[in-house]
Amino acid sequence: MNIQAILNDKIKEAMIAAGAGSEVEALVRQSNKIQFGDYQANGIMGAAKKLGMNPREFAQTVLDHLSIDDIAEKLEIAGPGFINIFLKNEWISKHANQANISSTLGVTATQNDTVVVDYSSPNVAKEMHVGHLRSTIIGDSVVRTLEFLGNTVIRANHVGDWGTQFGMLIAYLEKVQNDDVKDLDLSDLEAFYRAAKHAYDSDEAFAEKSRNYVVKLQSGDEYCLTMWRKLVDITMAQCQHTYDRLNVTLTRDDTMGESLYNPMLPKIVQTLKGKGLAVEDDGAAVVFLDEFKNKAGDPMGVIIQKKDGGYLYTTTDIAAAVYRYHTLHADRVILFTDARQTLHAQQAWLITRKAGFVPDEFIMEHFTFGMMLGKNGKPFKTRTGGTVKLTDLLDEAIERATALIEQKNPDLSAEEKHAVVEAVAIGAVKYSDLSKNRNTDYVFDWDNMLSFEGNTAPYMQYAYTRIRSIFARAGLDMADIGGEIVIHEDKERALAVKLLQFEEVLLLVAKDGMPHLLCQYLFELAGIFSSFYEACPILSSDDKTKTSRLLLAALTAKTLKQGLDLLGIKTVEKM
Ligand code: ARG
Repeated sequence: MNIQAILNDKIKEAMIAAGAGSEVEALVRQSNKIQFGDYQANGIMGAAKKLGMNPREFAQTVLDHLSIDDIAEKLEIAGPGFINIFLKNEWISKHANQANISSTLGVTATQNDTVVVDYSSPNVAKEMHVGHLRSTIIGDSVVRTLEFLGNTVIRANHVGDWGTQFGMLIAYLEKVQNDDVKDLDLSDLEAFYRAAKHAYDSDEAFAEKSRNYVVKLQSGDEYCLTMWRKLVDITMAQCQHTYDRLNVTLTRDDTMGESLYNPMLPKIVQTLKGKGLAVEDDGAAVVFLDEFKNKAGDPMGVIIQKKDGGYLYTTTDIAAAVYRYHTLHADRVILFTDARQTLHAQQAWLITRKAGFVPDEFIMEHFTFGMMLGKNGKPFKTRTGGTVKLTDLLDEAIERATALIEQKNPDLSAEEKHAVVEAVAIGAVKYSDLSKNRNTDYVFDWDNMLSFEGNTAPYMQYAYTRIRSIFARAGLDMADIGGEIVIHEDKERALAVKLLQFEEVLLLVAKDGMPHLLCQYLFELAGIFSSFYEACPILSSDDKTKTSRLLLAALTAKTLKQGLDLLGIKTVEKM
């Protein structure tokens, strides 16, 4: 449930009844101090000012028009004119009980947008490296959250699968095949790419053939297309392996590479020319944008077709926007890339809008992120200064988690150990990234992320198993505790209110594409549960209290598990 929205609606209604205009905002927010209540309305002062009224007097008039006795225990006018709202224990209990029996843990939002999420997007014939980690896991967490809230999500893996380098790659693939290397081992795509480049630079006949193959590929030559597909398949099979290891929901079917848009490009350029937006400039087709100035202060030129007829990354993204609106019928597009592509996206989408290719209400959002840094504060690299492959990073995570778990809990069976190591290793890498505000760079630090203390995956996973162990010890199944939650103690109350705020945080994650808010929520929830558990004995209490507290514990466990799942992080029952 969305308590904030419920209170916001009620108070807004009362503000209007008290004389405010219909556009007034109640601005109800969660309070950050318990003495200010559970929620507070911040909109009174602004509304009173508009009406030329004393804010505290206006607040009193609003309260006179407000009937929320069933929800609120107490309403208080505070400071210059805030309204503090203290929720009623009975109301909290009732909704906690509903949440406990609901399959969505009380989340009632029913969004139903079609959202295209463009994320991960590695490049063919290159291996996934740490530069693709953030887009892949932040994007996937937002995808899961959007789906959980009811939206239809179309995952668009905008793979770099087209370009002039494919002539060279096809020629090299052919060479490798002709040399009859049995079981052609392309597992080292980087080495393959390097070798192709070397042949291109050092062997004129090879270079000649490569250039010939680009032209053939572009004109739809069957042989070149078959070879090209082979390269795409090999790359995507490797990516899939990484996605599976990462517990990321992308599949082969989600691949919508740059090549998908090729057939659309000539018409896009033609239309832009027809509208006078694109002009010929030194043989190329260029769109000059007043909104962006170059160094000389002149409108910046964005090339959409080169002199030799080739199209560009921007042209493809214009086509992708058109496709997503007209063919996929999306309401919203979210693009996840690092911040260095900001200008690129702004330009592509500005051209798309200026051309009238999509209507104003079609939402296109670019959610960017900062860099992953090493402990030295510089971009994360291998010891020798190379790019870190994602598979190597995950191998190291498994290695480190194995050592950690062997030392923490040597008594686990081999099977249990395997599951715990995997959940902790992958979870740690993902959580350490997802828990940071994506707008900032962050330091990738093995020791921090594998710590059982602080806002880390192992801490969260352990918090979950601790609750599970309460049930295990009592020989009880979480699903069939009868009875109901009845709130008496402050710590029970604080826990229940936090649990009921799950939906509010998910809505924010879906709106702003910021999974760190969910991490923060889960971390706080785990902390609130700990203080509840310390202050409120469960198994030794009288029957009714015990039942109520067990139910609160069960809802906490389910919320932690669900929340971690929305982050793409696995939980285990024992660790
Ligand atoms: N393949 C690109 C890269 O590796 C990312 C593509 C992002 N998506 C897009 N529609 N431009 O940087």
